[in-house]
Amino acid sequence: MREVEHPGGAHPATLLLGIGELTTNAPAAVGVDPVDDPTGVVRDAALLLDGGRVVWAGPERACAAGVEEVLGRAPDRVVEVEGRAVLPGFVDAHTHLVFAGDRAAEFEARMAGRPYEAGGIRSTVAATRAASDDVLRAELARHLDQAARQGTTTVEVKSGYGLTVADEERSVRLAREVTPEVTFLGAHVVPAEYAGRADEYVDLVCGDMLAACAPHARWVDVFCETGAFTPEQSRRVLEAGVAAGLGVRLHAGQLGPGEGVRLAVELGAAAVDHCTYLTDDDVAALAGSWTDAGAATGGTSPGATSRGGTRPDGTRPDGTAGTVATLLPGVEFSTRQPYPDARRLLDAGAVVALASDCNPGSSYTSSMPLCVALAVREMRMTVAEAVWAATAGGALALRRDDVGHLAPGARADVVLLDASSRTHLAYRPGVPLVAATWKDGTRAP
Ligand code: NIG
Ligand code: FE
Repeated sequence: MREVEHPGGAHPATLLLGIGELTTNAPAAVGVDPVDDPTGVVRDAALLLDGGRVVWAGPERACAAGVEEVLGRAPDRVVEVEGRAVLPGFVDAHTHLVFAGDRAAEFEARMAGRPYEAGGIRSTVAATRAASDDVLRAELARHLDQAARQGTTTVEVKSGYGLTVADEERSVRLAREVTPEVTFLGAHVVPAEYAGRADEYVDLVCGDMLAACAPHARWVDVFCETGAFTPEQSRRVLEAGVAAGLGVRLHAGQLGPGEGVRLAVELGAAAVDHCTYLTDDDVAALAGSWTDAGAATGGTSPGATSRGGTRPDGTRPDGTAGTVATLLPGVEFSTRQPYPDARRLLDAGAVVALASDCNPGSSYTSSMPLCVALAVREMRMTVAEAVWAATAGGALALRRDDVGHLAPGARADVVLLDASSRTHLAYRPGVPLVAATWKDGTRAP
């Protein structure tokens, strides 16, 4: 990689040249037929970033005219990437990064045969309650830095290890310092002091806890599972969250089938996460959420090109949107469960995202490249589907149209791989292939 700097521009503009494979996830913007290639790949490409946005993407041979026309001056930095692959920054739409301590002993016991149980969450709750704000903030920053070094440029962060009004408020407040994608998960598990009084705890979550947390949060979530919250309790929390102005997302189908997926679709959730155990009705509901009344034109998802289609943020012209199935293969890897059946979802026309679920219990990885590798190797997603799901899919799961793709106007969140193609993400698992990252157009250190 060679870099040339011409200081003195009004604000620095960066031109990446010599891109062997540019994944844009924006076929229309780069003149690619979305049915042939929904990931909008351009070979021998160039990409221009300015003012924190993508301003031009296309074949390098068309670049001189394109750049001058758009920028009206020479770029401040020119980076020759010598045939390497470039893609949108990863959008990790599911993490639990406000916590203290770890559960390495629990992991070791699990590898020796003990099953994963929702109740393990309570030990992280105790460690998190005991930690100071500064410790939680430092741990959050450390985990985000690790994620950033693996190409994550957008991250959702949930609360859920506080479970008192003050500790949940603190969790969402600290999360809001680092991302706008903050999720209130007061209904993560019934805390020890409410044992046998789950409905009373749900009253608290829907009342004072929600009131304290909603100002810092964009989303509400519930762990709808045996050992956590029932569908009825989940509905109460989600409806209270909606009444407080929050969008809906849900944990469901992690440990067994249940009513959670259909509840999520019924409530218009942006995403339902895990989806390891699904009934045929669940799959039909997820696929149907994208094709029901109001669908317009143009598909955006590989494996779902037959669905009615949406705008880039996944919403329909009437403002409604479908429910993304966010698959979390780090969980199955770390809990030795069967992987979710991604093919069944994709072939039915559902929209699939991949996320890390980074948390100290069920999936202590923040590596989106690992998730892509697991999705390809273990879940039979194609490389194109997996990369799309980890970028554009995550953006749809957050109902964001400014990230997850590299069309002009998108945020300049970009990953450069030390590899000639994105296939290497799955082909070379565990290798640190992220050579550079730009976040809002600025090169991450
Ligand atoms: O997404 N399933 C619920 N919450 C987390 C696990 C949290 C934990 O075990 O600490 C998850 O897997
Ligand atoms: Fe989770």
